[in-house]
Amino acid sequence: MTPQTSEHALEVIDLKKAFGGLVVTQSVSLAIRHGERRLIIGPNGAGKTTLFNQISGDMRPNSGQIKLFGTDVTQLAPYKRAHFGLSRTYQIITLFSGDTLEHNVTLGLLGLRPSRWQMWRPMSFYGDLATEARRTLDAVGLLHLAEHPVSDIAYGEKRRVELAMALAQKPRLLLLDEPLAGLSNTERAQVKALIASIPRETTVIMIEHDMDTALDLAETVTLLNYGRVIVDGDRDTVIADERTREVYLGA
Ligand SMILES: Nc1ncnc2c1ncn2[C@@H]1O[C@H](COP(=O)(O)OP(=O)(O)OP(=O)(O)O)[C@@H](O)[C@H]1O
Ligand SMILES: [Mg+2]
Repeated sequence: MTPQTSEHALEVIDLKKAFGGLVVTQSVSLAIRHGERRLIIGPNGAGKTTLFNQISGDMRPNSGQIKLFGTDVTQLAPYKRAHFGLSRTYQIITLFSGDTLEHNVTLGLLGLRPSRWQMWRPMSFYGDLATEARRTLDAVGLLHLAEHPVSDIAYGEKRRVELAMALAQKPRLLLLDEPLAGLSNTERAQVKALIASIPRETTVIMIEHDMDTALDLAETVTLLNYGRVIVDGDRDTVIADERTREVYLGA
């Protein structure tokens, strides 16, 4: 683990990404302080998820730089970024649907360990993981479903499992891609409370279209459009900005 050398949890510097002729990230720069709650907004196709994919390492940028806690990770694979304390959820659920909740969470925890390629481990190692997996499910009120296959549970419950898996890694930086999408009002309130309870040691960056809920959780906001940062800063200032209304709120 690299020592904390920066006041920023994340710095994105002049990031560019194109798919063929389509430029999806155009000179994006961002600086997110330790413990900050940042909301990323923008119309469909603005490049929000693509930005997350580059931060997590799921996609490589064409140029630019990504620093996690002061260290350049631009060339590092996703699992190496996880070792810096980065964790994320996906816009599309990535759980194994035929497998139980408990096993999914256990696999998630296992994938995180640096020693995952090591074949031999004491039995207690797996016992500890299963205990941790159950504790994780309990934290989101889903322990009673631990033995059920993912395919049996409701969409909102899957989203909570996914969020719980990300939180179980005790991330220093957490990326949430539309955690409230497709949820009922009750589920939305549950997930909102869960996000609000994330400790300050964890910096949170959230992409979300549900402004009513998301703005309560955000301190700072970045508006993206056509792969560019249009407005960036303190929540109320960004929301009051004419450009935000034009690009997003007025839409
Ligand atoms: N792997 C890919 N190959 C080609 N084009 C892609 C790929 N991934 C994303 N794009 C394109 O990049 C653009 C931005 O997509 P992205 O998913 O980042 O948008 P978004 O802001 O997350 O939108 P939404 O709010 O709908 O989730 C879109 O035009 C999309 O079609
Ligand atoms: Mg998206």
